[in-house]
Amino acid sequence: MKVGVLGSGDVAKSLASGFIKHGHQVALGTHEPAKLKDFVAQHPAAQALSLAEAAKFGELIVLAVKGTGALDAVNAAGTANLAGKPVIDATNPIANAPPANGVLKFFSTLDESLMERLQRAIPGAHFVKAFNSVGNAMMVNPQFAGGKPTMFICGNDDKAKATVRGVLDQFGWETADMGKAEAARAIEPLCMLWCIPGFIRNEWTHAFKLLHRD
Ligand SMILES: NC(=O)c1ccc[n+]([C@@H]2O[C@H](COP(=O)([O-])OP(=O)(O)OC[C@H]3O[C@@H](n4cnc5c(N)ncnc54)[C@H](OP(=O)(O)O)[C@@H]3O)[C@@H](O)[C@H]2O)c1
Repeated sequence: MKVGVLGSGDVAKSLASGFIKHGHQVALGTHEPAKLKDFVAQHPAAQALSLAEAAKFGELIVLAVKGTGALDAVNAAGTANLAGKPVIDATNPIANAPPANGVLKFFSTLDESLMERLQRAIPGAHFVKAFNSVGNAMMVNPQFAGGKPTMFICGNDDKAKATVRGVLDQFGWETADMGKAEAARAIEPLCMLWCIPGFIRNEWTHAFKLLHRD
């Protein structure tokens, strides 16, 4: 697949590396492509472009920008360049305020997730929440003694979710489909939970797993 990764930070680079590892073509999109000079030098299969160019390039889009800039980023990517495409939304609505006893502050509410705002802003794109509830170092084929970890996903378009499930299969995850876009109200705060052991005990090497009784 041709994958347009919107972002230039750790998540964008980790997921871009994963797509390259699995044989996909990758373009990263940023306001400042020069930032990615070293990454592109180390990954000749990747190119660094503007947000609009990367979105146009991708058949599959990954949104991996700071939560407070996510709306700006999808608008800069362009409605036409995102239309009809699956968009993996790895963002979290983390506010510009310090955590309280290790608990991050969000700018969204329990009645409106960031992904729902993005979906409303670009109705023609097919947003699928994924990869927001684990650290970037474990996004691609992580190894855990307890077996495959679970990635919780949601979104309104079943075909887009099937595409994301395929990516998660390649990247070594079990997928737990939690339904439509509103489920992002529950999936985004998993990021708060995931970060607490990090902030209070400097533990950053865990992932969630959903267990089912026989
Ligand atoms: N770090 C993790 O392990 C982790 C794990 C799961 C989910 N997440 C989520 O994934 C997202 C990316 O995280 P990150 O740690 O890789 O990087 P980050 O520092 O949160 O974000 C860096 C990216 O955000 C973009 N950005 C910042 N302000 C912007 C604005 N006003 N308008 C448009 N774009 C803006 C930057 O774009 P330019 O390149 O154009 O400057 C850059 O690509 C975040 O939403 C984060 O909560 C992070």
